[in-house]
Amino acid sequence: MCGITGYIGDNKTTDILIDGLKRLEYRGYDSCGIAAVDGKNRLYLKRVSGRVDALDKLVAAEPVKGAHAGVGHTRWATHGAPSEDNAHPHTDCSSEVVVVHNGIIENYLDLKEKLLAGGHKFKSETDTEVIAHIVEEKLKSLHVQASAARADMLEPVFFEAFRRAVADLKGSFAISVVWAKCPGMILAARMHSPLVVGLGKGENFIASDVSAFLKHTKRVVFLNDGEMAAVKKDGIDFYTFQGKKVAKEPVTIQWDSTMAEKGGYKHFMLKEIHEQAEAVENTLRGRLLPIGGDILRSEIGLSAEAMKSFSSLQFIACGTAYHAALVGRVLFENFGIAAHADVASEFTDRAKLMAPNTLVIAISQSGETADTLFAVREAKASGAKVLAITNTVGATLTREADYVLHTHCGPEIGVASTKAFLGQLAAIYLLAGHFAAARGRLTGTDARNYAEELLKIPRLIEETLEKEKEIAKVADSFASSEHFLFISRHINYPIALEGALKIKEIAYVHAEGYAAGEMKHGPIAIIYKGMPLLAVAPSGRTLDLMAGNIEEAKARGADVVAIVDEASKKTVKASRYLVLPTTGELFTPMLTVIPLQIFAYYVALAKKCDIDKPRNLAKSVTVR
Ligand code: G6P
Repeated sequence: MCGITGYIGDNKTTDILIDGLKRLEYRGYDSCGIAAVDGKNRLYLKRVSGRVDALDKLVAAEPVKGAHAGVGHTRWATHGAPSEDNAHPHTDCSSEVVVVHNGIIENYLDLKEKLLAGGHKFKSETDTEVIAHIVEEKLKSLHVQASAARADMLEPVFFEAFRRAVADLKGSFAISVVWAKCPGMILAARMHSPLVVGLGKGENFIASDVSAFLKHTKRVVFLNDGEMAAVKKDGIDFYTFQGKKVAKEPVTIQWDSTMAEKGGYKHFMLKEIHEQAEAVENTLRGRLLPIGGDILRSEIGLSAEAMKSFSSLQFIACGTAYHAALVGRVLFENFGIAAHADVASEFTDRAKLMAPNTLVIAISQSGETADTLFAVREAKASGAKVLAITNTVGATLTREADYVLHTHCGPEIGVASTKAFLGQLAAIYLLAGHFAAARGRLTGTDARNYAEELLKIPRLIEETLEKEKEIAKVADSFASSEHFLFISRHINYPIALEGALKIKEIAYVHAEGYAAGEMKHGPIAIIYKGMPLLAVAPSGRTLDLMAGNIEEAKARGADVVAIVDEASKKTVKASRYLVLPTTGELFTPMLTVIPLQIFAYYVALAKKCDIDKPRNLAKSVTVR
């Protein structure tokens, strides 16, 4: 959690740091701060409890002049409540060493105890602050040997002090440090938390992810776990934690920063909902035909032969990505391929019990979700091969997986995931088609039909999006409801879960997603007169059963909105209908989820919620 920025160069340091933080606010936003040093070794520290806009105002009122190196941070609290004292950057006793950190220092209590015994004074409740004091300690011991008068000695001393400090830390961290006495260099280190440096001309950048500095440079280097960077305005050197220099090649990022702007929509979430046809199209492009062939081999190394060899599949993911995994399970099972799906945080023991030669499919938009990464490590330790489905090039997950299938959705800024979900579904349908065909479960006209139906989905998504106003009207009529039920069956059951999750996330109302058949075993008791119930009931093998379940709910007073197609509308009796274009039964989740996303959006809008940055949540959860 948390977002880090760092800058060194001759441009407006504080503006660049703050602008970067605004772009990283999706990573956490309970407090924030920046620190910058000028050529005269003066340090400026500005922090606020609250959003980056407040920090921006503070810095505008008390501008920092002449600074040419600095770090910034936007926080999602782990240790210590959200407050100005706990906001980063944190300093040592001398207020010369300044640290920003993302992650958790697991041994911070031990370290803090020793530092307190050594006379250090702490100003916050955070785990992070220990880092500043340890660097201070190491600097003290090294200064005995180095002449403080010789400026050229300060950089090696600073580097070595930081390197030794990092060696004392256990846990997950992306850290960036500035030392006021050595303003020509910023240091950074990474272990289990994302960190990337951007290469400019006469200036360089550090950030948790590239969106922070994309408008300044697209040439970047991703740090690996166990690596450090010494960043100066004219160059960057990379090292291992042991101090050995490493050569790293920059890569060029294709996204431009306007792709990450709102594009005329009121919220990123709504913009991203409208980008879903494109997300599916881009994810499928050039990867589907010939179905079942070796088309994925050159891109991701997965041959048709390998697809035949796995005994079963095990999906792991969190949040919305887990709902994509559940759709994947039903889809693969439909083709007679054994598949399981687990939330990553509950997977740990199961890793050891997987059938030999299971392929683990880890789904993660960010590729940085700690629960997913840890589950992947457990799976790998048990000998499984891992295929990652992710939207983020260079993410940790991509470096740990054996095969990586990128979704091509572009950056997703809204905390509540929408287009990334559609991209994940597209990747799953793509894989399922190839697997089933490679294993002889999808052949001849069936294979052709599968590919044709899948390629039609982007157009049908566009048609579904045309219903936005109609869906908004239904949502408005329920704006004051505090409880919502979402039900469905079979391949749309995960969509009922996703519908409930979306509205919980952004409208802060109580919602339950249920397997429709399970309602009678308990949840039906909570239905009261007028309770909103959204029933996902497209044509398919479970439609008659769904129609029965809807009757049961109606008989208890539920106000039913049915998500149907022209044909299923005839079978289902509801108070209102949202009629979607017709597609094959298996493909319906890629359409049925859309009215539920829009529904959640408009309920949240009516309730004046902070849709792109819902309370208590973060886009990328990098703690377990
Ligand atoms: C967070 C986000 C969710 C997301 C989940 C998994 O909880 O708020 O929207 O679905 O993480 O994220 P991932 O990046 O692994 O897909």
